[in-house]
Amino acid sequence: MSQPRVLITGGSRGIGRAIALRFAREGAQIVIASRTSSELDSVVEEIEAAGGKGLAAQMNVRDHGSIEAAVYRAVEDFDGEMDVLINNAGIFGLETFENVNLTSWQRFLDVNLTGPFLVTLEALAPLKESERGHIFNIASVAAKQGFERCTAYGASKAGLKGFSDSLREDLRADGVRVTTVYPGQIDTSIWDDIPGDWERSKMGRPEDVAEAVWAAYQGDGDQADVDVTSQGPA
Ligand SMILES: NC(=O)c1ccc[n+]([C@@H]2O[C@H](COP(=O)([O-])OP(=O)(O)OC[C@H]3O[C@@H](n4cnc5c(N)ncnc54)[C@H](OP(=O)(O)O)[C@@H]3O)[C@@H](O)[C@H]2O)c1
Repeated sequence: MSQPRVLITGGSRGIGRAIALRFAREGAQIVIASRTSSELDSVVEEIEAAGGKGLAAQMNVRDHGSIEAAVYRAVEDFDGEMDVLINNAGIFGLETFENVNLTSWQRFLDVNLTGPFLVTLEALAPLKESERGHIFNIASVAAKQGFERCTAYGASKAGLKGFSDSLREDLRADGVRVTTVYPGQIDTSIWDDIPGDWERSKMGRPEDVAEAVWAAYQGDGDQADVDVTSQGPA
């Protein structure tokens, strides 16, 4: 298998960074995309140190223009083809239903659902050019199960599950595989501002998700669903 060319949204921290470093160990060419350039630059250094080739592209998944520009940059770096797209950028938060307002509801849908839709739309042509095109959508156990104070997050991730499952059928004939990933609680900075007594040392590690994604990429067949730990919410 030749070295994969991989675009990872939200590749600057947490799960996205761990996936970037896992692919880097295999010598992959990786473009990481998120809003904060200082974090992106330091992960590019880590990618290069791990044996991969890294490039940072600033992207806000709430801004279609910035998605277009970042995907264009990645595809230029990849010589017109893309093997793997990881739709990972996302936000999390807990709020009782009565305290969810339209602004916060819309923010969850924009980042966690419309973001992956737009990035996929922009990356589809180069993914189809690849002989091994593969899209990973990082959903959550909250896509399949209800949790308290999770209406907005749960709706966004259940929407991503529906998008991902139907996209798989639409792209089957093109040979592009689509995998939905369902992490349970994973110890990342996403938990830093969540009130509550969370036992972070008992959560899964970002590297667990990265290993599962790498295994699904390498595996034959559909690789439709990947579960990583079952503890929720998140
Ligand atoms: N950690 C968990 O327990 C858990 C469980 C299930 C599912 N997940 C999912 O896994 C994914 C990664 O989460 P994580 O735990 O690694 O979170 P994290 O440590 O907070 O990292 C989130 C990443 O997404 C980027 N991001 C956030 N908003 C963005 C935007 N508008 N445009 C572009 N990039 C944006 C962040 O960079 P910037 O802020 O610089 O843009 C960062 O790189 C998310 O989709 C999350 O829902 C996490």
